[in-house]
Amino acid sequence: MAADLRPEVIEAALRGRFGRPLRSFESVGSTNDVALDWAAAGAPEGAVVVADHQTSGRGRRGRRWLDPDQAGSRFDGTAQQTGSLLMFSLILRPSGGLAGLSLLTTAAGLACAEAVEGLTGLDVKLKWPNDVMLDGRKLAGILVESRAGADAVDVAVLGCGVNVDWPEDAMPDELAGRAVSLSARSSRVPTRPELLAAVLVSFEHLYPRIADRSGAEELIRAAEARSAILGEVVAVGFPDGSSVRALARRLMPNGALELDCDGVARVVEAADIEQIR
Ligand code: BTN
Repeated sequence: MAADLRPEVIEAALRGRFGRPLRSFESVGSTNDVALDWAAAGAPEGAVVVADHQTSGRGRRGRRWLDPDQAGSRFDGTAQQTGSLLMFSLILRPSGGLAGLSLLTTAAGLACAEAVEGLTGLDVKLKWPNDVMLDGRKLAGILVESRAGADAVDVAVLGCGVNVDWPEDAMPDELAGRAVSLSARSSRVPTRPELLAAVLVSFEHLYPRIADRSGAEELIRAAEARSAILGEVVAVGFPDGSSVRALARRLMPNGALELDCDGVARVVEAADIEQIR
């Protein structure tokens, strides 16, 4: 177990209600899966799962979320750690049910951006729907998942992965040039417990706003103010494989993105956005 992820070290850094109870692992498949199982077994809102490594970390739309250990073992046959990521999942039991899942992603992105900015002074942006960006590259990703069944209580798990210290020359080809880590941009790299505590405290303040209309509007305005794409022409890839170039116009009250496609407004709930440079 990495010394910085020992439960007592993390617990000493926590400043709010979220983060307790805590489970910290050397390695898991996906912290989201561990958290979903724990939630099904009754874990309360605020419980957090942290891992130093994930063997099957995932991103949006079934994509892989790589960590340095995996990348190392894939690329040179060794399992040497070449960097560090903060990877955690927070269990939530939203009082309003799961209707606002995309707003949870919005709030989590904001919390992550505020935390990094507060600790490092870096200018952090959001790329709809779930990317936290630094200098046009991905610093962190958010994956909110739920497992609500007919007789299940509504539970959501908010997974977050942040590239804390992963040198670009150690990143696999698929990430090099697209991802960035804090250590590449800041001489003041927070410890993982410090960063986790800051994200959780920031999220704790934003989370209640999802429950009412004016709070949700505030979240949306804050996310718009931090957007890396609004006002720009972007390449939009849809789940059916089609794509368009369109102006990213604004965020809708439910967290969806409104595009301007040659003068015609189109609201999208799910898509991949690429910035055009
Ligand atoms: C994305 O960029 O599409 C989302 C990435 C989310 C990665 C985090 S790491 C902790 C948690 N566990 C996972 O398997 N995924 C999320």
